[in-house]
Amino acid sequence: MRDRVISGRTRICGIIGDPIEHSMSPVMHNAAFKNKGLDYVYLPFRVKKEGLGKAIEGMRALNMRGLNVTIPHKVAVIQFLDELDHLADKIGAVNTVVNDNGVLKGYNTDATGFLQALLERGIEPKGKSVVILGAGGASRAISFILADRGAHLVVLNRLLELDWAKELANRISQIFTREVEALELNRKNLAKALEKADILVNATSVGMSPNVNETPVISDLLRPNLVVYDIVYNPIKTRLQREAEVAGATTISGLNMLVWQGALAFEKWTGLKAPVELMKQEAIKLLEKHEN
Ligand code: ATR
Repeated sequence: MRDRVISGRTRICGIIGDPIEHSMSPVMHNAAFKNKGLDYVYLPFRVKKEGLGKAIEGMRALNMRGLNVTIPHKVAVIQFLDELDHLADKIGAVNTVVNDNGVLKGYNTDATGFLQALLERGIEPKGKSVVILGAGGASRAISFILADRGAHLVVLNRLLELDWAKELANRISQIFTREVEALELNRKNLAKALEKADILVNATSVGMSPNVNETPVISDLLRPNLVVYDIVYNPIKTRLQREAEVAGATTISGLNMLVWQGALAFEKWTGLKAPVELMKQEAIKLLEKHEN
């Protein structure tokens, strides 16, 4: 394929966050644009908290086609957008912005990407019992899409009283009129919740590099007939995933959620199906580089 030439016609996408140096998105998207022969480019922008409003106005003024939004801007960005997709509105967080002739619309492809990674493995969460560890930003997107899809949820978080696991559970219960349990993350509650669970989701950062020897679940609690979905993607295979494999569980790596949130953003900006496998290979190459 011909090398990319940036011209007057090139469309610009990018990602805003702070920090941004370790983002996987530029390599995934630029490889995808090239693969599809699209005259698009994707750039990283380190944007501090206080610069967010100006960055979004900049997107409008520069007629950029799209942005991904990451920590710490996913909630705060909403106030600067013109429209919100129904699901992003419910979740209260946006990771993808599309600029259609000056109208900025926000989406949450973290949530839809999480779901897509389950569905591509033939796992339908409707009616399933799901245990979610953590109640932060990632957990919130995941909890909403699972509730929307008709799963039964138990959210476990270490600081139940101080944190908003309960608030999250209450909000989901109200919006979807279904019971969501919120419990403190301890061995006893975890053992009990996992007894009847079909799917376990680790939405905490436990096990993430450099703390690769940590795991949020002791291995005795893992078993066959359990899907273990760890949203941590660095390392590609976490301790939780290794132990889940040994226990005979089905495992899904956070890499799949990362790739699918990118793929679904790509589809919104370009209107084309994303080259998902290629994006995954690019992400793996970069992660392996970081690991060495
Ligand atoms: P993200 O946006 O990636 O979800 P976050 O909002 O900081 O990040 O949320 C991280 C989640 O991991 C939180 O639920 C956090 O628990 P607390 O609310 O109690 O802080 C959880 N978490 C982080 N480190 C943890 C640890 N060592 N053990 C258990 N939970 C942990």
